[in-house]
Amino acid sequence: MKVLVTGASGYIGSHTCLELLKAGHDVVGFDNFSNSSPKSIERVRELAGKDMRLETLDLRETEKLTALLKEGFDAVVHFAALKAVGESVEKPKLYMENNVGGTASLLGAMEIAGCSRLVFSSSCTVYGAVEKSPVGERHPRAAVNPYGQTKLDIEDMCYELASEDKSWKIALLRYFNPVGAHESGRIGEDPKGIPNNLMPYVMQTAVGRREFVNVWGDDYPTPDGTGVRDYIHVVDLALGHVAALSKLEEFQGAQAVNLGAGRGYSVLEVIAAAAKAAGKPIPHKIMPRRAGDAAAIWADASLAKKKLGWETKRGLDEMCADHWRWQKDNPEGYGE
Ligand code: NAD
Ligand code: WQD
Repeated sequence: MKVLVTGASGYIGSHTCLELLKAGHDVVGFDNFSNSSPKSIERVRELAGKDMRLETLDLRETEKLTALLKEGFDAVVHFAALKAVGESVEKPKLYMENNVGGTASLLGAMEIAGCSRLVFSSSCTVYGAVEKSPVGERHPRAAVNPYGQTKLDIEDMCYELASEDKSWKIALLRYFNPVGAHESGRIGEDPKGIPNNLMPYVMQTAVGRREFVNVWGDDYPTPDGTGVRDYIHVVDLALGHVAALSKLEEFQGAQAVNLGAGRGYSVLEVIAAAAKAAGKPIPHKIMPRRAGDAAAIWADASLAKKKLGWETKRGLDEMCADHWRWQKDNPEGYGE
């Protein structure tokens, strides 16, 4: 297939471009580089031993986007978005314009260019405050912050479009917690500023960039009292997109599918596995709970297995070993 990837140079985008190239697809990517470096795609080309085009383009530049799409693509894989929950609370309008406005621009351009196949990066955040896991796709949706609201709005836009025009086929992939890196240690997550997410914070602590990990609460109703999440290796996640593309013709309009491992790990289990991977203890301190955090959430991953023939293969030790290799070899990320 000829595939257009938005947000291609980002964390999940770069890993997915690599797996798409390896699967034999013809890949063109674009990004506005607001949260990434084009260096990731240079490294993807090296790893794949194949070329791919990377354009500088913003989702909201509808005319340029339409011209690009008119080159003729079989499908679009849409990662481009802002994703920092805290920033979205401070700048809700920016998140609406970039994520929701940007996706409206993309869908409009796709319509004009006659491309009606889309794989979209949704998130488990659409499940809102989850009280019981595993969480299936029929769980009621709710936004708990402006970032989450953008994912709900985009899902709704896709459902509406596909119900009005039956030619559309859209996979709304709801990711759980992506971590890890390609096994080469050449591409990985390069968060700007102080990481909010657990794994990058743990790895930056292991490499000496942070003093200790704040463990946000140890009084949750979980086995060790710390929060439990469904961590998924980013390469498994990337392969989930390759699987979704191969099964897209079987989709009925727009349909949501969870991409998760279907099991949870606690904060202390993650720190212990990361310490094993790094070969050194990782200092951490128990702190009060972080506002808005659920005690535990993991996926019911059975639909992905049934519908996409996909399931995760890489466990927590591999996630930590690969994330550590990337962090150790690239302590300052891509260095920009
Ligand atoms: P990322 O920030 O590394 O990648 C997103 C990319 O989109 C970046 O390269 C950024 O520069 C680009 N971008 C942002 N706005 C753009 C615009 N208007 N035009 C063009 N490019 C733009 O983040 P990621 O972790 O790779 O996330 C990819 C997608 O997956 C996002 O939609 C995110 O919301 C979703 N998601 C991520 C997670 C996670 O924890 N990482 C979980 C669930 C869903
Ligand atoms: C994981 C666990 C924390 C940092 C976020 C987004 C969500 C989705 C996935 C995009 C929790 C604990 C964390 C730290 C800690 N992304 N923790 N110390 O909150 O599950 O979800 O990423 O769609 O929208 O909100 O991920 O990595 O922040 O936290 O103790 O320094 O680690 O309390 O239990 P979360 P996370």
